[in-house]
Amino acid sequence: MGNPLLREPALPFESEEITSDETNELIQSMWDTMEEYGGIGLAAPQIGVSKQLAVIRIEEDNERYPEAEEFEEIVIFNPKITLLDETLQGFWEGCLSVPGLRGVVFRPRKVQIDYLDESAKEKSIIAEDFLATVFQHELDHLFGKLFIDRIEDISTLSFEDELVSADEEKEL
Ligand code: NI
Repeated sequence: MGNPLLREPALPFESEEITSDETNELIQSMWDTMEEYGGIGLAAPQIGVSKQLAVIRIEEDNERYPEAEEFEEIVIFNPKITLLDETLQGFWEGCLSVPGLRGVVFRPRKVQIDYLDESAKEKSIIAEDFLATVFQHELDHLFGKLFIDRIEDISTLSFEDELVSADEEKEL
């Protein structure tokens, strides 16, 4: 957070660029970065590349989001988002570009994403509930937005460590 690149709208890819070796390497370093920090999604601007590319993968029992349902990996280029159900749902969000902090963000509960996959083929996916939030969070990065911009009640902004100890207290 604070890096101007995170605040810029990212540029779309040309089809032939998507299948290039350079892009392939970029995708690999995004998976590596995401894994290193235990994230469930990452967008290219977060590693200093202002291009419309994001990856999402949710493994069971992820250390940062243990409650999240498993989701097979997806690589998304040049996404367009359509809201299918604008009913708002709130989740605790965090971000590898905003380390150590969490806040409650309300977002529409169902979205459709039209995008190009890693073979530059047109694809479409519908995401609901927490997964809809994950997609919207990652795609926000491609338009210069961070989750902290969308926190309605700023008093929810918390240090992860404090939330963990608040959780432990609840159980006592
Ligand atoms: Ni993020």
